[in-house]
Amino acid sequence: SETGCLSIVVLGASGDLAKKKTFPALFNLYRQGFLQSNEVHIFGYARTKISDDDLRNRIRSYLEKGSAKSEEVSEFLQLIKYVSGSYDTEEGFRMLDKEISLHEEFRNSTEGSSRRLFYLALPPSVYPVVCRMIKLCCMNKSHLGGWTRIVVEKPFGKDLDSAEKLSNQIGELFEEPQLYRIDHYLGKELVQNLLVLRFANRFFLPLWNRDNIDNVQIVFREDFGTEGRGGYFDEYGIIRDIIQNHLLQVLCLVAMEKPVSLKPEHIRDEKVKVLQSVMPIKDEEVVLGQYNGYRDDPTVPDHSNTPTFATVVLRIHNERWEGVPFILKAGKALNSRKAEIRIQFKDVPGDIFRCKNQGRNEFVIRLQPSEAMYMKLTVKQPGLEMSTVQSELDLSYGQRYQQVTIPEAYERLILDTIRGDQQHFVRRDELRAAWEIFTPLLHRIDDGEFKPLPYQPGSRGPAEADELLERAGYMKYTSGSYDTEEGF
Ligand code: BG6
Repeated sequence: SETGCLSIVVLGASGDLAKKKTFPALFNLYRQGFLQSNEVHIFGYARTKISDDDLRNRIRSYLEKGSAKSEEVSEFLQLIKYVSGSYDTEEGFRMLDKEISLHEEFRNSTEGSSRRLFYLALPPSVYPVVCRMIKLCCMNKSHLGGWTRIVVEKPFGKDLDSAEKLSNQIGELFEEPQLYRIDHYLGKELVQNLLVLRFANRFFLPLWNRDNIDNVQIVFREDFGTEGRGGYFDEYGIIRDIIQNHLLQVLCLVAMEKPVSLKPEHIRDEKVKVLQSVMPIKDEEVVLGQYNGYRDDPTVPDHSNTPTFATVVLRIHNERWEGVPFILKAGKALNSRKAEIRIQFKDVPGDIFRCKNQGRNEFVIRLQPSEAMYMKLTVKQPGLEMSTVQSELDLSYGQRYQQVTIPEAYERLILDTIRGDQQHFVRRDELRAAWEIFTPLLHRIDDGEFKPLPYQPGSRGPAEADELLERAGYMKYTSGSYDTEEGF
């Protein structure tokens, strides 16, 4: 059933996510030959009554970027058909099914299959009803074989209860193997590299534990505010927007034990164990911030208590990590755009070189921009003197892999949904465990019991966050190293 007719349905086809991420990712897959025009048809579905060409024209400018040729774009756009209808009545979905079936019948004169992928580029509030409509009207035709799969994206609820409710509603309609919960951080090159790095390298095996590692930071910074998304953002805040999903997923991959095999279920089993070992968050290990000017956005309430910055220390209660703080930090409107994992090792015992204040060993994995891994280490200062200096072993992807274009996260993840590989998607119990960690803190913030500190846009965030970092054991050195720039 893995060849033959494939129908990709983008629901919410005229929305932002579809235009900026979903269609461009589909286009890139098409250009690279992963979507064959004799097999694939793409359907856009939304409420607006527009023609096929109207939709194509709306998407075009998002595809004509980089090396894309305009004929390629036109060819691709011809694969897209538009169906308009509401999200909560059968009529539109019946029409959609008819269009998909027509396409399948046409193709199936040669080869039989009915593979149907539904990508919900929609607000989660309509997930349940849309899933019900799909189940009722649009399932794959079983006599042709194939499958029906549903792709959804966060926010999956606002807290543990609402997330469980959503999971139940969708779970009554579709089985877990049919559901693909996207966390696009899992599609990033260096996130996908984590397991290889950890489990295919003898270097790391003996070092990756509490005996050697002092602290771990997982950091997300953006140098712009919530422009244009204030309404959405204010409902959620930085913890739900970035930390509870993206950074926590990265934490799992850094901290998990070696899976039994690379089977998706084996990997996800290990991730769940990490999440279940996280201890309750302590108030004194949280710093929240809100940038000055955030409330000027007309879609943000004047007295909003929503954090646009947070540093949260998580503690994993298990044999490997007891006592090692995992510091998750995320912020909008900061001084730089960067996402990285920074692993700081303990001091060398018996320091005969007296090089302690030159900096500890660190292993840094920069997810973006400019993917890189580097190790900070102490070497002899070249020359006649016997003195030491901190230097780097550097693997910068831009230099090392000059001929390689690193795929967009969404490209890779959509390809996985077509291939049926769930490794890089969030399982239901994983989602639940993630909400369990953050829900108590989130409720206190929502109730106004925990207030964000103000910070200047373009700064490092509240100074209190750096103090927390220090208290957690992080030792900062900036002399002549890679990471001097805007700080990290
Ligand atoms: C999204 C958040 O999930 O991730 C946005 O909703 C954020 O607020 C974005 O800007 C960041 O993604 P990336 O891939 O640019 O780091």
